[in-house]
Amino acid sequence: MKKPIGIFDSGVGGLTVYKAIRDTFPDEDLIYFGDTARVPYGPKSPNTIIQYSIQNARFLLQQGVKIIIVACNTSSSVALPHLQDITKVPVIGVIEPGSEVALQYSTTKRIGVIGTEGTIRSESYSKAIKSREPQAEVFSQACPLFVPLAEEGWQDHPVAHAIVQEYLAPLVAKDIDTLVLGCTHYPILINAIKSFIGDNVIIVDSANAIAEYLQRLIPEAQDGVKGKDIFYVSDNEDKFAMIASRILGGRLNSLQRVHLFESWFVD
Ligand code: DGL
Repeated sequence: MKKPIGIFDSGVGGLTVYKAIRDTFPDEDLIYFGDTARVPYGPKSPNTIIQYSIQNARFLLQQGVKIIIVACNTSSSVALPHLQDITKVPVIGVIEPGSEVALQYSTTKRIGVIGTEGTIRSESYSKAIKSREPQAEVFSQACPLFVPLAEEGWQDHPVAHAIVQEYLAPLVAKDIDTLVLGCTHYPILINAIKSFIGDNVIIVDSANAIAEYLQRLIPEAQDGVKGKDIFYVSDNEDKFAMIASRILGGRLNSLQRVHLFESWFVD
């Protein structure tokens, strides 16, 4: 019996991380939890994000996961040490892998980071990048309108292009050579982002970065038995399923709603 990899996010955006992990580890069993009842985490205070993240991690631990992947950049930015305190199971966030990959690609070490308000306020990427490369210059920008655009399926809408330009123009003016997509939803807007920043800026996607990082961390279960997926959400399973089919290009086989205020919710 394989122990599953647990992944949680504030909602549906973490499916970009799920997808990268599924592609990299075809034989692993994966359990995904999206906290759709309480999304978005981006504008919330650190204390609230920490409480929600601990509850999400406890739920995954109850499912017997062997590792917890915090797909949500906002949770990874503010809650990671608190999550590592509650369990011996490894808890991995997306900030360190994304920062590592950004430094590998950047030649000028002028790096742009975009994320939610919570992620940018925490300076998590900037601290992680500078702890590895003190000479690096990090230019950050919160892009709060990107999440609703992605959820609305407006990734190629003219409005998306206008908003991308508005948020990213100040970073491009700083002459960055690498841009970190520090939010689960941003890979969905990749076309609009690429068409504005052009080919000279390398884009680092935290979803791919964590999948590569995991390859070094856990030996892949290669038993030739295709891994199973179970998806849980805390609300709105129909909306989740609809957006999920856009992100994953297919229907979810197993999607269940778990109710808040049940046992896993108690401290
Ligand atoms: N999952 C969040 C993140 O990666 C984005 C959505 C939200 O604000 O909850 O930061």
